[in-house]
Amino acid sequence: MIKIALAGTSGLAQYIAHYISTQTCHQFFFLSRNPNPGLTAKGWQVLPVDYGNLNDVRYKLVGVDTVISTVSGQAQHSLIDAAAQVHVRRFVPSEFEGPLYQRPSTSDPLDRGQKHALSLLVEKQELYGMQFAVFSCGIFYERFYPEGMASLQLGAGTHISGEGDYIVNLRQRTAIIPFSHSNEVYVRMTSAEDVARYVVAALDLPDWPREFFLPAERMKVGDIVTMAELACGVDFQRQYVDENALRNAISYAVATDNISQQYRLHHLMATLHDRYDYSWVSPHQLVNSPSKQFAEWLLAAWCTE
Ligand SMILES: NC(=O)c1ccc[n+]([C@@H]2O[C@H](COP(=O)([O-])OP(=O)(O)OC[C@H]3O[C@@H](n4cnc5c(N)ncnc54)[C@H](OP(=O)(O)O)[C@@H]3O)[C@@H](O)[C@H]2O)c1
Repeated sequence: MIKIALAGTSGLAQYIAHYISTQTCHQFFFLSRNPNPGLTAKGWQVLPVDYGNLNDVRYKLVGVDTVISTVSGQAQHSLIDAAAQVHVRRFVPSEFEGPLYQRPSTSDPLDRGQKHALSLLVEKQELYGMQFAVFSCGIFYERFYPEGMASLQLGAGTHISGEGDYIVNLRQRTAIIPFSHSNEVYVRMTSAEDVARYVVAALDLPDWPREFFLPAERMKVGDIVTMAELACGVDFQRQYVDENALRNAISYAVATDNISQQYRLHHLMATLHDRYDYSWVSPHQLVNSPSKQFAEWLLAAWCTE
């Protein structure tokens, strides 16, 4: 049995907590900036944390074997520093999206401090022996949930957590599809719940690779729209946008100071640049029941609407 600290209380952290508590004997607690009566009512322990105070973060992590972070930016940087200093054995950074090799090497408008977090983790592994592993899973199915990911307490930090913020708007029957003249655009996709199952199952592996590539479903972007059309039983109004069109739209969104539109467009551009695609999947057979297929998940999500 190990002791796990779950940093953050978003939907993903709660799915992970659910699987730790139902599938393992490990002890865990949440670290949160806020009291969370809803979580404590479930019998889960929530410790307050001030990420701006390294002593406090260190104190909270004493005796912890593994930290699973779902927090980003400066908060995660403090968490990494503190974890290494109190000899945490393993650290899962707040990644859970496309693979590392698809990240842009220069400026990245979608970087939430992850690049710095990863360089800190490499440094801490060398200095303190703290291992880490990234769980690459592509995009969450929940991006297409009724009322958006926000209704599942997911994605606040992505700025695209509302309904219809990414590729397809099922209620309005519209789609904006990133399109390349030279190749098909693919994404890997999985549900946040299956990501949580996988992360929890990996806790018992004796050795971790630097990066897990989850067995997420791989599909053409246009097929996401086709599945949404099938779920709704009607054709959608499709708009195809190539790199030039996206670049122009981003310039316009910047000129008009439309921040949320900038994020929506940057996510489409990242998709066009294959950020959420990978060809190889980790060989670990960590979970027994197969991941939910997107078509099945989408139908279930929208038919109960
Ligand atoms: N692949 C995908 O499609 C996808 C989509 C969405 C999210 N994700 C991944 O899921 C993870 C969580 O992301 P998210 O966007 O759902 O959550 P988020 O907005 O980044 O928030 C996660 C947690 O961070 C804490 N937090 C929020 N703002 C903070 C601040 N200013 N300072 C310190 N802590 C702060 C909150 O915990 P407390 O309030 O409890 O302190 C919150 O529960 C990330 O790794 C992200 O990459 C992936």
